[in-house]
Amino acid sequence: MSTQPKIIGEGLAFDDVLLVPQRSSIRSRFSGEIDTTARVALGAPSIHIPVISANMDTVTGWKMATSMALLGGFGVIHRFMSTAEEVSEVRRVKERMRVIEEHPPVIPGHATIHDARLMLKQRERGYVIVHAGESFDGSFIGIATPRDFDAGRPDTPLTEVMTPFERVHRVAPGTSLEEAVAAMRQHRVEKIPMVDANGRLLGVYTTKDHEYYQHYPNASLDGKGRLLVAAAIGVQEGDIERALALAAAEVDVLVLDIAHGELDYTQEILRRLKVVEGLKTPIIAGNVATVDGAKYVRDSGADGVKVGVGPGYVCETRDVAGVGVPQVTAIMNAAEAYKNDSVRLPIIADGGIRKPGDMAKAIGAGADTIMIGSLLAGTEESPGEPVEQDGILKKMVRGMASATAFEKRLALGATTTSLEDYVPEGRTTFTPYKGKASKVVKKLRGGLLSGMSYSNARTIEEMQERAQFVIVKNPMMPEQRRSLQS
Ligand code: XMP
Repeated sequence: MSTQPKIIGEGLAFDDVLLVPQRSSIRSRFSGEIDTTARVALGAPSIHIPVISANMDTVTGWKMATSMALLGGFGVIHRFMSTAEEVSEVRRVKERMRVIEEHPPVIPGHATIHDARLMLKQRERGYVIVHAGESFDGSFIGIATPRDFDAGRPDTPLTEVMTPFERVHRVAPGTSLEEAVAAMRQHRVEKIPMVDANGRLLGVYTTKDHEYYQHYPNASLDGKGRLLVAAAIGVQEGDIERALALAAAEVDVLVLDIAHGELDYTQEILRRLKVVEGLKTPIIAGNVATVDGAKYVRDSGADGVKVGVGPGYVCETRDVAGVGVPQVTAIMNAAEAYKNDSVRLPIIADGGIRKPGDMAKAIGAGADTIMIGSLLAGTEESPGEPVEQDGILKKMVRGMASATAFEKRLALGATTTSLEDYVPEGRTTFTPYKGKASKVVKKLRGGLLSGMSYSNARTIEEMQERAQFVIVKNPMMPEQRRSLQS
C-alpha cells in the first residue's frame, strides 16, 4: 500500500478567488504606464498582448493566427489536417507581412498578361518581376503591375507593358524600409527593388508592407518582420515528419499537443526532435496541472509549458475521467515548480477563461500568457461559417476529444482507435457569432490592464510577483461559470 496521502490539497478555480486591490502608483490603466509584453517560449520573440488562440479546429487556422499576430497576440494552428495543409496554413501567415519580399513572384518575359494575373491570384502580390530566358537567375528585365496589365490584352506578352529595368527605380543593398519608403514617395512608386552592383535582385520593398507596420504597431513579429505563428503536433509516428516540415516552413514555435503531458511520450518526442533531429524551433509541451507535471515538462527539454487539465469550456475530462485540477491552483503549481529557476519556463494558462478578469487572475497566479478557445470560436476569423439557429447566428465549437472531432481524425487516418471504442472527453456545441476577434482581445486586454493597475503591476513579471488573492466563500455555481461572455 502506498504511503502517499489520498488527498493532496484543495483546488481553486477562477471564480473561487479575487485579486486583492493594492496601493498603486499607476495613475490610470490607460496612461501607457503598463507594459503587457510577455514571453511565450524560450528562444521565441515576446508578444505585446499575452493572448494565444487555442489549437482547436473550430478556433485557429491561418486566418485566426494572422489576426492574433497582427493584434499583438499569437495563434497556434491546429493539427487536425494533413501535414501539407498545416504547412500551407503556416506559410499563409508568414506571407502576410514582411519588411522586404525576398522571394517575389518572378515570370519570364514571354509570359502573357493572363499568365501574370494567374500568378498574382496565388501569390497575392501587386507586381511581378520579369526575367529573361526560362528561369530566374537573380537578374531581371523589368517589373509589371496590374495597372500595366490594363494597358494590354490577356495574350499581350509582359515585355510590351512592363517598366523596363533601366527605368525601374531601385535601392542599393543596406537600404532600410524607412529609406526605401522615402525613395518610393520621391519617385511616386509603390514598389522598389533592392538590387546589388551586378544587377541582381535582393528583394522588393512595397508601401503596402510599410502601411501594415504602421497600422499594427503591436504586431507579433519574427526577426525578419514577419508575423509570428505556432503550429501543433501530436505524438503519432508521423508527427516527427510533421514537425520537421513545419520547421522547414519557418514556424516560430511548435506546440506538442497532449491532453496528459506527463506521459512518457512527451519526453520521447522532445528527445527525438531536439536531440536526434537537432531541431532548433522552440517547443511548448503540455498539458499539465501539478508541480511534478510542470517539472517533468521542463526536465524533458520543453521551451514552454501549457497548463490546464479540464478547465476548458468544451472539456469533459473532469466528468468522464474524473481527472483535473482547478485552474488557478494548476497555474500556481507550475509557478511553484519553476520559482527557483534562473530562467523560468514560460507558462501558458490554457482553458477556462470566460471573462477578462480571469485573464488578470491567471497572470496574477503566475502565468505568462493565456490560451483561449471558446471565446474566439464565435468570431469571424475562426474556421467555418456561421449558421442560423433560432434566429441567432452561431458558430460551432467543439472539444478536440469530442466525438465529432474524432470522426474527423478517423477520416484523416490519424488514429488507430475505432469509433465504437472511443469515449469522448469533449463536447460539440454552438456559440453566438461575435464579429471580429479584435473585440475579444480588446476586452481581455482592457481587463488585464485594469487588474494590473489595481495590483500596482507595470509589467507581467510584477503582476506575477505582486498579485494577491482572497478566496471567495460562495463562488458562483458551475452552471453560471459555463455562460460564455461575448
Ligand atoms: P476554453 O475554455 O478557452 O479552453 O475553450 C480551450 C482549451 O480546452 C482544451 N480542450 C479540451 N479539453 N477535451 C478536453 O478535456 C476536449 O475535447 C478539449 N478540446 C480542447 C484545450 O486545452 C484548449 O486549448
